[in-house]
Amino acid sequence: MTDKKTILSGSTVTGNLTLGNYIGAINNWKKLQEEYNCFYMVADLHALTVFQDPKELRERGMSFFAQYLALGLDPEKNTIFMQSQVSEHAELAWVLNCFTPMGHLNRMTQFKDKSSNTKNINAGLYSYPVLMAADILLYKADVIPVGEDQKQHLELCRDLVDMFHHRYGETFVMPEPYIGSVGARIMSLQDPTKKMSKSDDNPKNYVSIIDDPKKIQKKIKGAVTDSGEVIKYDEEKPGIANLMTIYSALSGMSYEQIEKEFEGKMYGHLKVGLADLVCDTLKPVHEKYDDLMKNQDYLNDLLKKSALKAKERAGKTLAEVYEKIGLLPRGF
Ligand code: TYM
Repeated sequence: MTDKKTILSGSTVTGNLTLGNYIGAINNWKKLQEEYNCFYMVADLHALTVFQDPKELRERGMSFFAQYLALGLDPEKNTIFMQSQVSEHAELAWVLNCFTPMGHLNRMTQFKDKSSNTKNINAGLYSYPVLMAADILLYKADVIPVGEDQKQHLELCRDLVDMFHHRYGETFVMPEPYIGSVGARIMSLQDPTKKMSKSDDNPKNYVSIIDDPKKIQKKIKGAVTDSGEVIKYDEEKPGIANLMTIYSALSGMSYEQIEKEFEGKMYGHLKVGLADLVCDTLKPVHEKYDDLMKNQDYLNDLLKKSALKAKERAGKTLAEVYEKIGLLPRGF
């Protein structure tokens, strides 16, 4: 296990996981779990940057965990854990916060987007990428599989590594982003010029992993398409391009193969084909998810074991950091 390279990634517990999260990230996590030593995290601390109903947050955290498993992440091969159950994340985040220049955080486009859409602009929202850096650096992760929207946060993390090393000497591993070639940015179904987001106010914009088949059919068949009728991949036609990207990611077919499959057919045919493909892909996921959610004891037990495993690794890194920066050893 130790000679394998390490991966860390996660998703924030807001809304419900979408096809965008699956195609842009979790599907890659699944592929990489064979070759790497993987830490996959339910990012519930990040969720606190927006108002949360306590009961709902706890339930949603568990639901995300069950969805990770149902989507094919194997708890035997990976450490799949809840961020808040590994206190080292918050501790390292504080240390990193204390030497992250505000100028770096001011550049973060996600903060600009999010803060322009909310009245709750708190310090956590601002330093959100610093907590992400702590998540990554605690495990000395080599590779970070994410969708395109997280690229800037990873750049900040890389800058922090350089700054820390400059001041205290080699400590962390420089993480590399891993962004898939297809589906790194799945777009909204109703407005294909913006990203499909699980915290979107309009549920018609996304397909949730746990949407029932009827809802999935309705959302995909109601997706906005462009003028024209030929099914051909064209970035100038973002609606149809987005549907083809989802089709390609789930079927493994290239755009050319999809064009051939739907030659002489209309946009409506593609939507019907895609809705069926999404439902077929998610059917076994729904079955597994329902089983898991009925077995909360199993989920809790697994979470406890994974937190201990994660803590073992994270604790070592944090001890090194404390030593370097001049704090007393941890555990007093
Ligand atoms: P989150 O929860 O927004 O998204 C989880 C993952 O899904 C990807 N993603 C998408 N990919 C393609 N198309 C989309 N429409 C789409 N929407 C989301 C995201 O890029 C991400 O990879 N801050 C992170 C969670 C996090 C994290 C970390 C990630 C916390 N700590 C450390 C990596 C490393 C987030 O909110 O992701």
